[in-house]
Amino acid sequence: MARFRLNGKDVSVDVEGDTPLLWVLRDTVGLTGTKFGCGVAACGACTVHVDGVATRTCVLPVEAVEGSEVTTIEGLGQGDANGRLQQAWIDEQVPQCGYCQSGMIMAAASLLADNPAPSDAEIDEAITNICRCGTYSRIRRAIHRAAGA
Ligand code: FES
Ligand code: FES
Repeated sequence: MARFRLNGKDVSVDVEGDTPLLWVLRDTVGLTGTKFGCGVAACGACTVHVDGVATRTCVLPVEAVEGSEVTTIEGLGQGDANGRLQQAWIDEQVPQCGYCQSGMIMAAASLLADNPAPSDAEIDEAITNICRCGTYSRIRRAIHRAAGA
C-alpha cells in the first residue's frame, strides 16, 4: 500500500512498493496522459511533478513518493502560469505526433516555476527530454511565449 496526493487528492494504491510510479499512474489509477518511452529514465516521456519538481517516473518506485504531492499533466492548472504555458503550446502548434509532449510540458512548467524567463541555453540545459519528431525549436518558442505572457 502506498499513499500520496495526486493532482490535489489523497490516493492510496494497493501495489508492491517497488512498482514504478508510472505503472501506478497509468494502470492502477488510470491516468494515461503520462507516457512510457524508454523505461530507463533517458527520454522524459514519463515526467510528472513530485513536490513541484520534474521527475521521471518509469524507474521511480511508488514507495519513494509516499506522502508527496504528485502532479500529472491531467492535474496541471488551467487558470494560472501553467494554463498560459499550455495555451502557448497550442498557439505555437508545438506537437507533431504528440507522444513526448506531456513530459515536455511538465518539464517546461517546472523550469518556468524556477526561472520565469529562461534563455534558449537555459531551456536546453534544463529540458533534456527527447522528441523524436524534433519539435525542439517550437518548444523553445512556446516557453518564451508563456514567459512573456
Ligand atoms: S519512459 Fe521514463 S524517461 Fe523514458
Ligand atoms: S512530438 Fe513526436 S516525439 Fe515529440
